[in-house]
Amino acid sequence: MNNELVLIADFGGQYNQLIARRVRELHVYCEVVPYSTLLDRAKNSKPKGIIFTGGPSSVYEAGAPALPAEVFSLGVPVLGICYGHQLTAHILGGKVLSPDFKEYGKVELKIKSGGGHLFKGIKPEEICWMSHRDYVEVLPAGFEVTAFTRKCPVAAMENEDRKIYGLQFHPEVEHTPFGRKLLSNFLFDVCGCKGDWTMQNLAAELIKDIKEKASGKKVLCALSGGVDSSVAAVLAGKAIGDNLICVFVDHGLMRKNEGDEIEKMFKRDYHINMVRVNAGERFLKALKGIRDPEEKRKIIGREFISVFDEEAKKLGRIDFLLQGTIYPDVIESGSGEASVIKSHHNVGGLPKDMNLGLLEPLRLLFKDEVRALGLEIGLPEKMVWRQPFPGPGLAVRCLGEVREEKLKIIREADAILREEIAARGLDGEIWQYFAFLPNIKSVGVMGDERTYFHTVGIRAVTSTDAMTCDWAKIPYDVLEKISSRIVSEVEGVNRVIYDITSKPPATIEWE
Ligand code: XMP
Repeated sequence: MNNELVLIADFGGQYNQLIARRVRELHVYCEVVPYSTLLDRAKNSKPKGIIFTGGPSSVYEAGAPALPAEVFSLGVPVLGICYGHQLTAHILGGKVLSPDFKEYGKVELKIKSGGGHLFKGIKPEEICWMSHRDYVEVLPAGFEVTAFTRKCPVAAMENEDRKIYGLQFHPEVEHTPFGRKLLSNFLFDVCGCKGDWTMQNLAAELIKDIKEKASGKKVLCALSGGVDSSVAAVLAGKAIGDNLICVFVDHGLMRKNEGDEIEKMFKRDYHINMVRVNAGERFLKALKGIRDPEEKRKIIGREFISVFDEEAKKLGRIDFLLQGTIYPDVIESGSGEASVIKSHHNVGGLPKDMNLGLLEPLRLLFKDEVRALGLEIGLPEKMVWRQPFPGPGLAVRCLGEVREEKLKIIREADAILREEIAARGLDGEIWQYFAFLPNIKSVGVMGDERTYFHTVGIRAVTSTDAMTCDWAKIPYDVLEKISSRIVSEVEGVNRVIYDITSKPPATIEWE
């Protein structure tokens, strides 16, 4: 990347990704690097600023993460947060204390008058988010206290001449309302950043990068229709044209018309060289008689890899595998550098001597950045904001044995649900909504006749990350319309139920 760069030294804190996101929201490109590689990286890449994250350690512990003092002599401004603040004090000759109490939660912060660049435009009394036990008791030489709380005498410190700053609180979390302002002061006033990280530049740069690495080479991509692999594929298509070959394994477990829509979009709208493998029958055969949810998942995963590998072998020599790996996967893998092949994209069966290289154009982007990039390169809103859809598809929404007649009911009911949610403009508010078949038949009455038909379940949840969710409070009249349309339009259904459970204790999917 040719952008101005801020390096974030990772000390293992829980908010590290959030710091990076906040910096990028301010249009400054940053990377999270393991603390042990920071000094080399900083010497080589001449960053505009360095941020130390928090972390679970205590500076005096044996083996606690540390850095050579040289990092403060590079002439690059440093902002230490929480553990990073304590470490700064420790390295520069201050003293850290481990008291027998914690300071946790929203805390009143008093900012000393004349607090330097970092607190410019911030009120003298503010609320900040604290989460620590240790604190800085004695300042290093040349530092002054710029903010304190009732329990923490050095909630912020600085050495304006050397542009070294420390914060015991967390400016990156929402609970510190002035945090964005403070980070912006650091980036723009202290580090002199301009904010040149934009999607326009990024798209051009990523395409150029793929061209440089893979021109004249054959690149293979497993396309699922999900946001990440789609954005990666369209980028690569723009870079190397037909040398990108996308294999779309249609396992027959997609939603209504979804397979056709994916094929049409990539082939017709983006002129991507795509092979669609209609493997529905093969998957159904493999799933015959299987009722256990985990067993179903394993079979689908195994079958997917076999089909993908068989197709890949037909293509002859392949040089690169294109993957939609994104930044949270890279950071979570712990390395911040090397990446692992995602298990669901595993190329287990491909011959070892293929010597595949990896292309991961999105590996430094967060999900919201992938979406913005997708829009920038012309992907439609509908695709970019596609709701999450599990890899094993409708199989995990078809309880009990997966059979075509059951899948057909789910597809039709799901299509009605989606139509009605969209018609009421609720699709932007609800994280995920879908129909499932709980494998229950019940007695009903239609006209003069009794029926013994399937029950369709509706699940709709609000969430921000799928880790927790709440059931969506869909207005009754919308639910009524969905229910009456499903029972009248979908053959073999006489009852509709709505799942009103949150996660936890339930999960989003039923299997
Ligand atoms: P749960 O049901 O665990 O789902 O609350 C959380 C999120 O993950 C999706 N999900 C999956 N995605 N393969 C996937 O790629 C799977 O096997 C799978 N199972 C659940 C689910 O749709 C929700 O967004």
